[in-house]
Amino acid sequence: MNHVLVLEGSPRKGNTSAVTDWVLAGMGKGNKVTRVKLCELDIHPCQACLACTKTKGAPGCAQGDDMTELYDKMIDADLVLWTSPIYCWSVTARVKSALERCFALLTGEGLLKGSKWALVLTAGGDAFAGIEYLGQHVAAPCPDGAKLAASAALRSSARGFGKELAKALRAK
Ligand SMILES: Cc1cc2nc3c(=O)[nH]c(=O)nc-3n(C[C@H](O)[C@H](O)[C@H](O)COP(=O)(O)O)c2cc1C
Repeated sequence: MNHVLVLEGSPRKGNTSAVTDWVLAGMGKGNKVTRVKLCELDIHPCQACLACTKTKGAPGCAQGDDMTELYDKMIDADLVLWTSPIYCWSVTARVKSALERCFALLTGEGLLKGSKWALVLTAGGDAFAGIEYLGQHVAAPCPDGAKLAASAALRSSARGFGKELAKALRAK
């Protein structure tokens, strides 16, 4: 039986919760599902003290808030399903805080090695608050320096995105 840990980033039982229900239904029965509402936990942002980088075999975060318990759940889970409504062009602050604190799992021995993550987002729409969303461009994997400069594929797709933006502006 797989353990699915759902980290819920919405402060309410609304759209994101409903869409998450559908995703979980789609996964079928036979999984152990734990749903955690991040708004009910006390999770502070990362303080960049780097204490975690000096610890092996444990998260080693110097903050003793509710993230301590969440670390264990995340290490145990076969799938961590992050969920969030889009708030002002980003995930909710609660999700961002928890994500920053995952730095402690990535340092040292890499306690998340082999774990699987996925993300469920809901958003008002392309024209939220009168701002027309023109899409996104992700360059990934993005190598450094000379390798990036030599990547014809990354250059071409970035230029293609620029062309699309220019087209959208001309259509105004
Ligand atoms: C504070 C706030 C900010 C929002 N910002 C955005 C936004 O930037 N873009 C967008 O498409 N929708 C935005 N929305 C709409 C929500 O993302 C959308 O209604 C979402 O499905 C709500 O999920 P929930 O019911 O789980 O809270 C915003 C809503 C709120 C309350």
